Amino acid sequence: MCDRPGFTVWFTGLSGAGKTAIAEPLAKALQARGLRVERLDGDTVRQELTSDLGFTKEDRDENIGRVTFVAKLLSRNGVAVICSFISPYRERRAKTRRDIEHEGSPFVEVYVHCPLEVCAARDVKGLYERAFAGEIDNFTGVSDPYESPEKPDVVCRTAEETVAESVARVLAYLEEKGYVPAQ
Ligand code: ADX
Repeated sequence: MCDRPGFTVWFTGLSGAGKTAIAEPLAKALQARGLRVERLDGDTVRQELTSDLGFTKEDRDENIGRVTFVAKLLSRNGVAVICSFISPYRERRAKTRRDIEHEGSPFVEVYVHCPLEVCAARDVKGLYERAFAGEIDNFTGVSDPYESPEKPDVVCRTAEETVAESVARVLAYLEEKGYVPAQ
């Protein structure tokens, strides 16, 4: 048995909404409190674990299904798992929650809310410009759907708050639930 139970924090939102920007300092903050932490992120996972997949609904669901499997194994072994994926489909996210909770691990859904215009204006990776020009098929928010969470555990509004405020909001929730020792 491990000393502390694990859990999964799941960031969902548009590309460029700020999922990774919040996940990175959150991971550091949890490590500083002595937790074992692992991050799973769309950009790296798609290179290492799901490089055979594209962006159709079937492929996205398969992507999230494989990540869920990994998050489940880690969470049940005491790791705080921080996942950042667009994960645009509500039903697939609900299945992820069920799978992880079924193993006895808490699941926290964080909706990283940011208007499409703001994500497109940031265009960190230059993908929105190409998507609006019709050069990328199935681009979330442009030519593919994003189903926003109906009852997320936490909402971070990145067009209105700083990264530090978003991190504090997630940490406060984890403390309130007793998943992380309060400081
Ligand atoms: S998910 O829909 O399956 O959850 P995931 O989070 O793994 O997506 O990957 C999203 C990242 O892939 C984006 O941040 C972006 O960098 C890149 N990407 C490439 N093509 C697309 C596309 N058609 N739609 C969305 N993101 C894309």
